Amino acid sequence: MKLLIVDDIVKNIQLIAAVLHEYDTTFATSGEEALEMLPHDEFDLIMLDVMMPGVDGFQTCQKIKKMPKYKDIPIIFLTADNNVESVSRGFEVGGVDYVTKPFHSRELLSRVKNQLFIREKNKEKELILLQQFKMAQMGEAFSMITHQLKQPLSAINATGIDLNMAVELGTLDDAKVLNSVENIDRYVHSLSETIDEYKSFFKPKNSFDNATILDLLKKVNLLTSQMLKSQAVVLIVNVENEKEFFKTLVNEVAQVLLVLFQNSIDASSAKMIDGIIQLNIKKRDNGIYISVEDNAGGINDTIKDNIFDLNFTTKGVDGSGIGLYMVKNIITQHLSGTIECENINSGTLFKIFLPNLLV
Ligand SMILES: Nc1ncnc2c1ncn2[C@@H]1O[C@H](COP(=O)(O)OP(=O)(O)OP(=O)(O)O)[C@@H](O)[C@H]1O
Ligand SMILES: [Mg+2]
Repeated sequence: MKLLIVDDIVKNIQLIAAVLHEYDTTFATSGEEALEMLPHDEFDLIMLDVMMPGVDGFQTCQKIKKMPKYKDIPIIFLTADNNVESVSRGFEVGGVDYVTKPFHSRELLSRVKNQLFIREKNKEKELILLQQFKMAQMGEAFSMITHQLKQPLSAINATGIDLNMAVELGTLDDAKVLNSVENIDRYVHSLSETIDEYKSFFKPKNSFDNATILDLLKKVNLLTSQMLKSQAVVLIVNVENEKEFFKTLVNEVAQVLLVLFQNSIDASSAKMIDGIIQLNIKKRDNGIYISVEDNAGGINDTIKDNIFDLNFTTKGVDGSGIGLYMVKNIITQHLSGTIECENINSGTLFKIFLPNLLV
């Protein structure tokens, strides 16, 4: 567990660090310095002095909470006065607790312990959700792979029947046998290729890939072509600089697109219209721009602010409301990007930006 202590008075930092000696502590002596440090490190909790010259604690807190990486980090304020106004301002800007100075070491320690415990629990919850999401995606991929395996399997079957017939009719010759064996070989090859492709898709992976837009499209196609075909939804793809490499998590981006496509398909089948999805992906110097637009009627203004919330769904028992929540999570947390949604023409437009990552 890594803690950041922010206070302009060095003596305070030393005192707090001594109380929290069982943790790995780092310090900053101003709000500015803390804001500068945060993106380059990974902290689990921040102790933040309120009264500091320059950017004060409240302002610092607000800025920290705007960083996607730290939007959930517990921040405990260190305040000299515990008047109602300053305490409630602390909670308003996103603090989770406060300690008044001069502090008692035991109190400080148990407040920190308490917040770290809650954070740990939240992380576990997040992990379970991610697991659930992955399971649902697996289910999707599984039904697609079985579908894709069927065609070569029935071709092998047909070849067998054909051979059998030739035996019965007395028309079997070497050429026919060789030809059949060759065909079976080809089908088996295609079966194992399909299996390999899916295996690579579900390999857990934390390191970033060097990929092109074409690589991404291949994965997307693997995941979604069957679904689009069976729902008679047309996908129009537009790409720019599709052969240039960029750093990303290809599988995760493909999963994001799968969720967006699923939602568009759901919406167009609910409206009973012929669905059209337009996917645009372009590579620029600063990153990747992706947009997904459909023609399925758009999203009602009254719920637009909620679609990324966990468990928000308008599909009753058919929906779980995890899809867009996970999409936002993957885009902002795993890829430091942004995602926005707006109604356009006769449907919905999702705009995604993934910055160039120097990892
Ligand atoms: N393209 C779209 N067109 C219209 N409404 C949409 C679209 N995408 C999302 N929505 C709305 O946003 C809600 C949340 O979507 P989300 O994918 O998070 O959950 P869900 O599709 O309801 O359930 P699931 O977890 O099974 O995907 C949907 O219930 C739907 O009302
Ligand atoms: Mg969905």
